[in-house]
Amino acid sequence: MPLSLSFAVPLLLLFLLLFSGLSPTLGATSVSIKAATAIAKTDDNFVCATMDWWPPDKCNYGMCPWGNASILNLDLSNPILVNALKAFGSLRIRIGGSLQDQVSYQVGDSAHACPDFKVDKHGLFGFTEGCLPMQRWDELNRLFNSTGSIISFGLNALAGRSKSNSSGNLYEGRWDPTNARDFIEYTLSKDYAVESWELGNELSGSGVSASVDAVQYGKDMIALKNVIDDVYGRSKQHPKLLAPGGFFDEKWFADMLRTSGPGVVDAVTHHIYNLGPGNDKDLIRKIQDPYYLDQVAQTFDDALSTVRQFGPWSSPWIGESGGAYNSGGKNVSNAFVDSFWYLDQLGMASTYDHKVYCRQALIGGNYCLLDTTTFVPNPDFYSALLWHQLMGPGVLHTTNDGSPYLRAYAHCSKKKAR
Ligand SMILES: *[C@@H]1O[C@H](CO)[C@@H](O)[C@H](O)[C@H]1NC(C)=O
Ligand SMILES: *[C@@H]1O[C@H](CO)[C@@H](O)[C@H](O)[C@H]1NC(C)=O
Ligand SMILES: *[C@@H]1O[C@H](CO)[C@@H](O)[C@H](O)[C@H]1NC(C)=O
Ligand SMILES: *[C@@H]1O[C@H](CO)[C@@H](O)[C@H](O)[C@H]1NC(C)=O
Repeated sequence: MPLSLSFAVPLLLLFLLLFSGLSPTLGATSVSIKAATAIAKTDDNFVCATMDWWPPDKCNYGMCPWGNASILNLDLSNPILVNALKAFGSLRIRIGGSLQDQVSYQVGDSAHACPDFKVDKHGLFGFTEGCLPMQRWDELNRLFNSTGSIISFGLNALAGRSKSNSSGNLYEGRWDPTNARDFIEYTLSKDYAVESWELGNELSGSGVSASVDAVQYGKDMIALKNVIDDVYGRSKQHPKLLAPGGFFDEKWFADMLRTSGPGVVDAVTHHIYNLGPGNDKDLIRKIQDPYYLDQVAQTFDDALSTVRQFGPWSSPWIGESGGAYNSGGKNVSNAFVDSFWYLDQLGMASTYDHKVYCRQALIGGNYCLLDTTTFVPNPDFYSALLWHQLMGPGVLHTTNDGSPYLRAYAHCSKKKAR
């Protein structure tokens, strides 16, 4: 991989010392960095945060931690929010989440009523179908434009399909692109910059609440590619295609890539929730246990090998990762301790050549970077910002002979040495 290193090697080291009652005291430790060549290269905008659809009545463990943090009701004029985005200069934002596969877009012939999500115990994820009004999309784009944010938008991948009568949570039939196409046309007509379009959320493998067959998904990606090529034509914008935004499953991912074929899927997005459920009493200990944190390295490695083997034209991204699932851990996922997990993840994902890492969530849930009620940044916000400002795309091989509680990552610095 080409890399320009001046003699005053501009590199940055990140040290993470996991504090724990179990950690032995550190003696003399040497850290070695191979600076001759990069072992991996991230995107220039590696740090990414998600915005989700969850309404105020999304609850877990008797708590409802989403407040008004949804894509549909977030206060977009809050000055802390605006300044937080501006601090990055170019924060990558992924719009998506569990409810995205039941969202319609209020545009075109296919648009009728535009209902809000309502609690419905028979609905997918416990909610009815919802809708994005174009007026709200206009407001969101004013914010994105004025803050220089880079947008990935997750499209509804269940449109046109129906639940199998015989096979668990499988949805059958091909994807109906009609409403998505109208939405994409509207977006381009307004000159809104969507850097990438993603299809579906957590439908890969056995799925979370719904699943789609990998071969069918591969065909649907070709259909989406045709829509994008057709709509954008000779426009200056050439958005990327992302898929599947779900949990890694080797065979499913391989089949999807084999079917969609060369040049269709630009980035293979997968999700990480390696800390278990948000109400786990052990959460705070897991975050500081290097042996526990190491386990998920296998997933990064497997995803990278699968993409290299079956989709060498694309690259792996973490499309969503919040640590603990079901909205994160109260008083843990939004606290200082969480950065031991988060910064280690950013380092690990880079080492395994993942180009982008989207943190669930910018705001909302217990794993929010900005407090859901006050918008005041949590510690992980500053970790994200520091990484974005300091850690460049060139990832260097870094080892240390000290305690496993010491984690070290080195990248070429973001800005050229003066
Ligand atoms: C959300 O916004 C609505 C309407 O402005 C308000 O009535 C409600 O109290 C807010 N909820 C929270 C949790 O802030
Ligand atoms: C904001 O929108 C204007 C008008 O479409 C465009 O020229 C400009 O490049 C946009 N800026 C960003 C940061 O997307
Ligand atoms: C499931 O069964 C219903 C009623 O028998 C039928 O209308 C529908 O087409 C079936 N769905 C599929 C996907 O086969
Ligand atoms: C979280 O912290 C608040 C404020 O310190 C406290 O009142 C609350 O009981 C804590 N909740 C849990 C689940 O630990």
